[in-house]
Amino acid sequence: MNTPKTNKPTPAPAKKAPQPLGLVRGMRDILQTDWPYWRQAFDKAQELCDAYGLDRIETPVLEETPLFVRGVGKQTDIVEKEMYTFETAGGEHVTMRPENTVGICRSYIHHGMFNQPQPVKMWYWGPMFRHERPQSGRYRQFWQYGCEIIGEQDAVVDAQLALLAWRFLKDLGIDSVVRINSIGTPESRVNYRNALVAYFRPKRNRLSEDDKRRLLKNPLRILDSKDPAIADLKAEAPQIVDWLDEPSKNHFMRVLEYLDEVGVPYQLDPFLVRGLDYYTQTVFELYDTSETEESAQSALGGGGRYDGLMELLGGRPTPAAGFAIGVDRVVSKLKNIQGGLPPKKVDVFVAQLGEAGRKKALAMFEELRMAGLKVGESFAKGAIKAQMDIANRMGARYTLIVGQKEVLDGTAIIRDMDAGTQEIVDARKIVQVVQKKMAQALPLVNTGTWAQPEVPPEQGAQNS
Ligand code: HAM
Repeated sequence: MNTPKTNKPTPAPAKKAPQPLGLVRGMRDILQTDWPYWRQAFDKAQELCDAYGLDRIETPVLEETPLFVRGVGKQTDIVEKEMYTFETAGGEHVTMRPENTVGICRSYIHHGMFNQPQPVKMWYWGPMFRHERPQSGRYRQFWQYGCEIIGEQDAVVDAQLALLAWRFLKDLGIDSVVRINSIGTPESRVNYRNALVAYFRPKRNRLSEDDKRRLLKNPLRILDSKDPAIADLKAEAPQIVDWLDEPSKNHFMRVLEYLDEVGVPYQLDPFLVRGLDYYTQTVFELYDTSETEESAQSALGGGGRYDGLMELLGGRPTPAAGFAIGVDRVVSKLKNIQGGLPPKKVDVFVAQLGEAGRKKALAMFEELRMAGLKVGESFAKGAIKAQMDIANRMGARYTLIVGQKEVLDGTAIIRDMDAGTQEIVDARKIVQVVQKKMAQALPLVNTGTWAQPEVPPEQGAQNS
């Protein structure tokens, strides 16, 4: 039997489902669950900078490439191998900033900030880009919180900056130590450089290829070498403090005296030279004290004085100092300290039952929010159980429950989420009720748990 011919079109070949795209190597997402920690760090930076009289500045992520080559230094790792540099469609040679001190100096010159009362004190917070080998605590896009004080050469500024960096960590619950050194003026460094070359040259067969290259191009950087095979060589090497001129020695002594005065813990580190070429005099880095010296490979922050940088960038000679903290590293510490519990997000959660309850709850949310309380809700959910789960996840101290009956009675149920107790309160006085309870409650610490009440000293002594 002949089968009737049909005019069916031949089916198109099945389309391949598109593969999801991954992340660019060394990049990462900062997710919603991370944000509460980032926010704590940001709020602390803002609070301290307000208190110390630093104003926020934002400079572009893209700058002309020569800015970094000149400012950070041709022979630094950053410029030699870590910059994201490209040519734009318009033929400009640009680089995604690997750090922000030179950008701030460019901005200072560009806007004639030398005409403002000196020093100009600025702070920034933003992403930096370095094409480094990604590993834990080392990303290709990372965030820095930085402070720069421009137009003042007194040693008190260096100490105050180290204090501010240390205080930032301390207030976030991270105990740190400031490792500090002085690399003097460029003139005093020439003699030291010669002494260092004279010391390492006869021993060059013990140096790695990298360190041999450093010996030729930038001998101070050998002191920064992480090669364990030359630890003993480094220990015997001439120390820069012995080569400092009198003014540099005095400057350094004064920085240390100021640090003593304010109780900032520091360690003298004769090998600290930092990986950027613009530094003069004081250099410092901050390390978590809970880590051993070997495990503390990665500094939480670093900075120092850079009196010659402005001139190098075409500005007038202007003394300056600053620091930057690696926010990614700080946030990772915060998470460890706080046990992964997200910090409390809301004071009070408004839960509702039924349409009348939802209407009333909507208005109550707005009333509480306008009174300055942090309020949570999940109005699209009907079941009370689901709403209570969300209230818990938000870390609410209290939950208000409004159903049909409460609407009719002009009341609300207030539930203490930690104690598990609840009572009926007057809905018209809801703001006062919640505020009173909040004021009476124990202060919260960032761990998302209740803080222990402070024991007055005399009582503490009796108890111990
Ligand atoms: P820096 O030492 O290159 O200094 O960077 C400061 C901090 O940024 C480091 O201590 C570290 O915590 C963080 N950091 C650096 N690279 C990475 C990375 N690949 N991934 C994660 N975190 C990183 C400067 O940038 C200077 N501009 C500091 C300064 C300001 N000096 C004077 N004023």
